[in-house]
Amino acid sequence: MSINSTALQTSAVINEAVQTLRDGGLVAFPTETVYGLGADARNPEAIQKLFTAKGRPSNHPVIVHLAAPEKYDAPQVDWAALLSPWVRDLSEDALQLINAFWPGPLTLVFKKDKSVLDEITGGQDTVAIRAPAHPLAQTLLRKFKGGVVAPSANRFGKVSPTSAADVRSEFEGMLDLMVLDGGDCEVGIESTIIDLSSGDHAVLLRPGAITPSQIFAKTGIKVSQPGEVTATHSEKNIPRVSGSLKAHYAPTTPLRLYPPGRVLDALSEFPDIKSRVAVAVWDSDSSLGHDGHPSVYFEEVTVPSDSAAFASRLYRSLRDLDQLGWDLLLFPEPPAGEEWDGVRDRLQRACFGSGPSSSNHASN
Ligand code: TXA
Ligand code: MG
Repeated sequence: MSINSTALQTSAVINEAVQTLRDGGLVAFPTETVYGLGADARNPEAIQKLFTAKGRPSNHPVIVHLAAPEKYDAPQVDWAALLSPWVRDLSEDALQLINAFWPGPLTLVFKKDKSVLDEITGGQDTVAIRAPAHPLAQTLLRKFKGGVVAPSANRFGKVSPTSAADVRSEFEGMLDLMVLDGGDCEVGIESTIIDLSSGDHAVLLRPGAITPSQIFAKTGIKVSQPGEVTATHSEKNIPRVSGSLKAHYAPTTPLRLYPPGRVLDALSEFPDIKSRVAVAVWDSDSSLGHDGHPSVYFEEVTVPSDSAAFASRLYRSLRDLDQLGWDLLLFPEPPAGEEWDGVRDRLQRACFGSGPSSSNHASN
């Protein structure tokens, strides 16, 4: 986050946002990952409004955002008191993860307290919670003094917004929305989600900037992949994570990935001429030199070969390229390695859902 991001909004504007939330309204706000569309987590009508605005199916659960305690880096922080209105049975592992990574881009799924609204959990007995690190989100949550549910502030299935302008364009003409401007999001892809609700396993539900290796290095907790857990657990896993739909995070322009050095192969899927193609190339590579294709005009756009820098700009690039009237977008396949898992996951879903028709969304 930029140092003066809170300065982008005066305290009068933040107070107005707090009042809007208390009145059952929606407020979009920045987090370090992506912008969220917030509503009071204890107000069913406000949550209903949120689902309608997003066009999100009502069985898709949302994340509750909480303010970190004032001095969260002090040795004795009472996260347990903060979580007790939301969570049943806070395990030792959970506290270790919280102390190591909150506030930050990590969402944890717990068995829920009975007071948590079904509208938040999609009727499940679990609740997802995170304490975002962005100073403006923290200020808003602290002043609101309650939980705020906030899915990414995009229409269902579309690219998540990483700036205030992205949020405005997402809901243009549909919704008169209050948007807090905290600058560009630093992480750029949604939080890592770890399910702790089974009590004995920590399971990765959505990869993000915080990886299982980092978690193991800092806490000694081993995070399993969803496939590694027992059948009974994964059977219940139907669309618990909306990002688990094959089509998600999708631009309107068709998007495909190409293996190293094989840009032309990706075109074979598009036998009709694709006259204007934007090709993303690693900033560490020299130009690809696409000769030998008579009917295609390629333009190169460089993308960072560092995974964090790539993630930070991924949605920005997809949104910007989507505005430019290309016939096709080609991105390089991310390399192997856990630090690329978050980016690879988002790019693959974006490819699947991309293109002018939304048939892929409808089939999911
Ligand atoms: O970085 C983020 O997490 C952003 C920012 C705004 O905080 N939020 C975000 O929210 O990505 P959303 O709604 O776009 O994605 C939340 C994901 C969904 O895929 C949802 O299914 C999953 O969290 N989720 C929420 N509650 C859950 C639960 N009880 N069990 C499993 N997954 C859950
Ligand atoms: Mg989302």
